Amino acid sequence: MRAPKGMLDVLPPESARWIDVITRFASRAERFGYGLLLTPIVDHYEVFARVGATTDVVRKQMYDFVDRGGRRLALRPEGTAPVVRAYVQHRPPTPWKVWYLAPNFRAEQPQAGRYRQHWQLGAEVIGIDDPDVDVEIIELLWGFYGELGLSDVRLLVNSMGDAETRGRYREVLLAYWRAHETLLGAEMERAEANPLRILDSKRSDWLDMLERAPQLGEYLSDASAAHFERVQEGLQALGIAFEIAPRLVRGFDYYTSTVFELASGALDAAQNAIGGGGRYDRLAQEMGGPAAPSIGFGSGIERLLLACDAEGVLPVPATQLDAFVIDLVGVADTARLLAELRESGLAADRAYGGRSTKKQFAAAGRSGARWAVIIGADEAKRGVVAVKFLRSEQPQCEVRREEIAAWLRTRKDEAPT
Ligand code: HAM
Repeated sequence: MRAPKGMLDVLPPESARWIDVITRFASRAERFGYGLLLTPIVDHYEVFARVGATTDVVRKQMYDFVDRGGRRLALRPEGTAPVVRAYVQHRPPTPWKVWYLAPNFRAEQPQAGRYRQHWQLGAEVIGIDDPDVDVEIIELLWGFYGELGLSDVRLLVNSMGDAETRGRYREVLLAYWRAHETLLGAEMERAEANPLRILDSKRSDWLDMLERAPQLGEYLSDASAAHFERVQEGLQALGIAFEIAPRLVRGFDYYTSTVFELASGALDAAQNAIGGGGRYDRLAQEMGGPAAPSIGFGSGIERLLLACDAEGVLPVPATQLDAFVIDLVGVADTARLLAELRESGLAADRAYGGRSTKKQFAAAGRSGARWAVIIGADEAKRGVVAVKFLRSEQPQCEVRREEIAAWLRTRKDEAPT
């Protein structure tokens, strides 16, 4: 039996990096004033249908099913729609600043950095259209990559303008696609449904056509242009380097105004987006809620870790075990001693099943622990335990049984590793 196609198991010790990445993100998001939002892993099909009638994610990649009550549900393919659904349902005061950690499901053709289940860390600010918020959300993500130690990351930004902008631009673009109907072939249908969908294609035979396509930036309304200008000024003020990417339109239908993507220079171009997001000023209304201009991002954990590997940063943390208890006499004190060590904040383990002395020492060595705490017959009689230093040449010593937890604790606090 193997995990389903395109889905990964994450085992220890690799999973320790996940804890690391998630903890850093959680701490950073909380420092920026965002609270954790947990939504169900499935939601109503309609919640996701709205995010992209013309996108592959919705048309071809959704894991949807009918439940026992006859409801059409889907495994979450992305994180923004459930957040907006929760906002519309609960109507919290705005700006509503939330972060999340969630698996997403897309039936893609699996390859390195592209999976059928991937995990995203994300953040959203619902109910405010201040460009300062756009800058804050980018700063949250940009600085997070810095905290992980990533440096080969490019920030691409663009503006998709308001409804008026996009309306005008769509017409111009569609006319341009029609003039290239032969080259577009079967994709012409998609171009008719949503002319923007063709723009960020990576097909090499379209490169020339794409490069010469009319640019959204030239059609921005005054208000959209002013908003985008403020975002750029805000990024400059914080020293965040960015590039304007005129063809960046992102893969969901909900995007409006500011959009951005973070590309790792250490990954293959086809899967180099380690994070992306943008404004979606109309989605709450489209879901039957009040007007609530909003912005957010999602960042894939698997890809982030691939980028860390490629840059040689954030290695798997070394084992954090402090003590390994070796019981040479089979006394009931082992469980009590372990409990004392663990309750005093030390990481401690043991072997099970009445292992021989040799096997227990071998297990202690493999465990990566700093000390072996040995309960021997003679020592037990004298009310002491022996301490062997597994990571250094220091000579073995004896410590009074009732003092061992405090003795180890003090040494750990003085020199944590
Ligand atoms: P997205 O660009 O589809 O946006 O995904 C965000 C990130 O998730 C990508 O940059 C990438 O790192 C990762 N990712 C996406 N698909 C896969 C996959 N198949 N395998 C591995 N990693 C993947 C969204 O999902 C939007 N909800 C982002 C957003 C939030 N926009 C506004 N707010």
